[in-house]
Amino acid sequence: MAYRVGYFVGSLSSTSINRILATALIRLAPSDLEFFEIPIRDLPLYSQDYDADYPAVAVDLKESIASADAVLFVTPEYNRSIPGGLKNAIDWASRPWGQNSFDHIPAAVIGASVGAIGTAVAQQSLRGVLSFCNARQMTAPEAYIQFSPDTFSDDGTVTNEGTAKFLRDYLVEFRDHIERVLTVLPRDTD
Ligand code: FNR
Repeated sequence: MAYRVGYFVGSLSSTSINRILATALIRLAPSDLEFFEIPIRDLPLYSQDYDADYPAVAVDLKESIASADAVLFVTPEYNRSIPGGLKNAIDWASRPWGQNSFDHIPAAVIGASVGAIGTAVAQQSLRGVLSFCNARQMTAPEAYIQFSPDTFSDDGTVTNEGTAKFLRDYLVEFRDHIERVLTVLPRDTD
């Protein structure tokens, strides 16, 4: 059975290393994972004032998540936390009250930075947010990626075999996690 994974790139940068990481993950994934991006760039800043009448871009966001079997967050760390654009998207998706798009959804987080800490602090913060949103997170393996052009080409080729194996194994674990969660908590994605 193939699973459709909606992925978020937490960066809006045109030269995002996390977008390169997302491309690398898609290239390395097992054949039964299919990926599509859930864009966050055009969302206005969330306010409860929108709850009675969500704009089309936010309706699209929620419909994209509803159509996914699972979600993957590929995110940078900004000032030891979640980038504002990604947090804004999560806030949109979690509302209106009672219509939380992340309820019970299989989820995983990963991220890259140029520093050795590899987005660890942002990921811990993101995990707390996703817990509150009741997403079913893969707890292990964790993936804190230190990005280097010696390891990742711009087209998402991973030139270091150790890193490629780590990412492949991570994705196989994610596939198994999705399968386990959906066995207990099937999603109506039609
Ligand atoms: C950063 N960067 C950064 N790196 C890190 O490891 N921990 C951090 O807390 C921060 N904080 C931070 C704040 C802001 C506003 C910026 C713009 C950058 C550096 C960051 O890892 C680097 O810019 C990456 O290239 C960001 O990922 P993307 O946007 O290229 O995917």
